[in-house]
Amino acid sequence: MPPRRFKSLLRATFVCLSFVTLAYFLIGSSFEGQRSRTTHVPTTTTDRVSEKKASPRWLDSAPPFIEAIMNPEDRLFDRLECPALEGTRYEHFRRSSNVVNITTRMPEYFFALDLTDCAHVLPRLIGSIVETMRFLGPENCALSIVEGRSVDGTYEILKLLQETLASIGVEYTFATNETDPMAKEGVRIEVLAGLRNQALKPLLENPNSYAPETTVIFLNDVALCMEDILELIHQRVYQQADMTCAMDWTFLGDNPTFYDVWIASGMHGDSFFFVPETGDWDLAWKLFWNHRASAERLEYGKPFQVFSCWNGAVAFAAKPLLEKHVRFRVSYEGECFQGEPKLFCKDLWYYGYGKIAVIPSVNVAYSDPMAKRIKELKGYVSRWGTTEDASSKIDWKLKPPADVKCMRSYEDQPWLPWDEQLAEHGVAP
Ligand SMILES: *[C@@H]1O[C@H](CO)[C@@H](O)[C@H](O)[C@H]1NC(C)=O
Ligand SMILES: *[C@@H]1O[C@H](CO)[C@@H](O)[C@H](O)[C@H]1NC(C)=O
Repeated sequence: MPPRRFKSLLRATFVCLSFVTLAYFLIGSSFEGQRSRTTHVPTTTTDRVSEKKASPRWLDSAPPFIEAIMNPEDRLFDRLECPALEGTRYEHFRRSSNVVNITTRMPEYFFALDLTDCAHVLPRLIGSIVETMRFLGPENCALSIVEGRSVDGTYEILKLLQETLASIGVEYTFATNETDPMAKEGVRIEVLAGLRNQALKPLLENPNSYAPETTVIFLNDVALCMEDILELIHQRVYQQADMTCAMDWTFLGDNPTFYDVWIASGMHGDSFFFVPETGDWDLAWKLFWNHRASAERLEYGKPFQVFSCWNGAVAFAAKPLLEKHVRFRVSYEGECFQGEPKLFCKDLWYYGYGKIAVIPSVNVAYSDPMAKRIKELKGYVSRWGTTEDASSKIDWKLKPPADVKCMRSYEDQPWLPWDEQLAEHGVAP
């Protein structure tokens, strides 16, 4: 049984919230309303790149953030500590720079983020991305960030970063979008999907400028290490996966609690933990209570296949986006209401890209202090041991579960055919 405190905290947090608010909490991206602020940011559907004004106050305080982002040794911010890379596990990614033809360079790694009000996590998050890009070769990497509605200096830091990243040869696209997913009822997922697609724009609009085997690394506002990112990419190659996901965590009281339960479904079609119609998270610690195979692999830190995941950090093939035009989208008319990452995975399956896996050695959280605690509890990637044996390989299923549970709301969680409404909407495999 969970401690009493845990239970009452759950009640306090959730019971009086409507599902709509809750669903925001569950998806866990920075665009969602955990911090549903009511700041007076104008709502507009146009890109306001050129108009957005930097605040002098935040511009003044941005340089130490840039310093920390560019220098892994910087100690000004109390960030999650990350181990130095050891061994040769990721050496196969390194490209000697004389192999790369600068005039015809084609990045193979596309980093995408949508960020709002998360200055606190930028030294760790962007710092780890920069470290990773340096490791992979800056000329092999592109970074695309869409910022929106920030009032905490996030915009100014990311803007100031432009010059610095250009100086190390990274292709960095920085855009803004002030559209607020919370501004109007019923448009939340549509807005979130649009923002995610906007982050992918440089890739989608210039497919010929990227390598055919490009990997997209899409990250939420999480604290994570270079080894977390490299492991997601490594497992995508090693397992020949179409998409790999981390595990993301929050804390309810002292209990580490898996966060992305609204999106993630196992190969049994069910959520990672049971959420009753009361919306209670009392059973959150019993992950894969009804799917032993997944529960075991999770416990031993071995990658396992799922129907859908996002979990704060993912690496996926650009191919289905470029060839099959898969995009982030809202539910079709008549299709069960669900979050855009789940629909994304559903569409991947439909087009034959169902090798989707959770990498349980990669654990992330939405702040540095929480990430520290979660690394202590779940271990760093490198501490999981990085040798591979026969059992590390996923035994891929080529067919998805026949039915998948759709958490339309906590009261209403129907089991529906996994490809519900796709044929009706003329989606052809
Ligand atoms: C780089 O590619 C361009 C265009 O294909 C070619 O003209 C040039 O000779 C190449 N440079 C090197 C150093 O290979
Ligand atoms: C800004 O976001 C909205 C809502 O998602 C989207 O419709 C619009 O296309 C985005 N703007 C750009 C320039 O992509």
